[in-house]
Amino acid sequence: KVSQGIDLYQLMDTVNEFYQQQLRAHTHKQQAIDYLKQRGISGQIAKRFGLGFAPPGWDNLMSTHGATTSAQKALLDTGMLTENDKKRVYDRFRHRIMFPIHDHRGRVVGFGGRVLNKADEQAGNPKYLNSPETPIFHKGSELYNLHGARAGIKDADGVLVVEGYMDVVALAQAGIDNAVATLGTATSSMHLQRLFRHTQNITFSFDGDRAGRAAAWKALETSLPLLQDGYQMSFLFLPDGEDPDTMVKKVGKEAFEALVRDAMPLPDFLIDTLKSQADVNRLDGRAKLSKLARPLLEKLPGGVLKKLLVDRLSLITQVSEADLLPAKAASAPPV
Ligand code: CTP
Ligand code: MN
Ligand code: MN
Ligand code: MN
Ligand code: MN
Repeated sequence: KVSQGIDLYQLMDTVNEFYQQQLRAHTHKQQAIDYLKQRGISGQIAKRFGLGFAPPGWDNLMSTHGATTSAQKALLDTGMLTENDKKRVYDRFRHRIMFPIHDHRGRVVGFGGRVLNKADEQAGNPKYLNSPETPIFHKGSELYNLHGARAGIKDADGVLVVEGYMDVVALAQAGIDNAVATLGTATSSMHLQRLFRHTQNITFSFDGDRAGRAAAWKALETSLPLLQDGYQMSFLFLPDGEDPDTMVKKVGKEAFEALVRDAMPLPDFLIDTLKSQADVNRLDGRAKLSKLARPLLEKLPGGVLKKLLVDRLSLITQVSEADLLPAKAASAPPV
């Protein structure tokens, strides 16, 4: 993709190099280094993930790489510069730790930036700021660290899907190299299809909070249409208040890997959730459960898994399999 005669991928490489260089050399680099240290991130891992530093100030990137009109325009196209309603152009990312986001082919296509302290957050800056959609960056299909995790996914024969950049980096710091994150969006069908090109085993581990549990159910619903026989999905639910970052720091690599191995299989999550929503000791409760189950079963592609799930639900509800499955659309009457 080219803008103003400038290759946007090459431009993003340059920007990436700039932020990493600021982490090594800027006058205020120590704040950023201290922040990373305090989060338990070693220099080696920071380097592997290409972490950088967007210094405080409105025009660090602009003055160094946006000097010409065409360079400025191209940087606006990548979302690295932004402009206000008076057309004043300035750096989008200021005073943040920078996480470069690579697409599945390994090219830098965007960034996530995290504030360094609570004061910046309290002043109204969001904790994380992400690149906007651009000609080269599509949040709905890219996953953070998918390119970097390819070997780890292959070795583990599975991928771990988490919510945050820091979760991915902290897991790698602990020696767990098969984690990817969605980019502040819900897990999409395109994300899953991309992951299924690398492995048939997906484990979701969202934050142990209400939002995380809601995201897990949402991911289940999105997954159902893709669940060919052979694919396995699981859900690792963390204790309230924990996320993969805090959890792996607390229990260590081996215990965390054991939690992943023992994660709840998708069919169990589905059945348990249904059972929590209806009292199967009552006739009308069993009717309710079958009503809740039907739209979910409808999403599954035909296959053995679907048969087994219908089987199990029929056993629980004592509703016949035919009644559990959606009514066949009545064929059009002969004219
Ligand atoms: N996120 C975002 N914008 C925000 C907050 C979060 O885009 N204002 C996205 C980021 O991708 C973030 C993820 O949602 O990594 C998870 O959010 P959260 O759990 O709040 O962040 P953590 O990764 O746990 O952040 P940290 O541990 O650094 O506080
Ligand atoms: Mn790929
Ligand atoms: Mn959260
Ligand atoms: Mn966190
Ligand atoms: Mn979190």
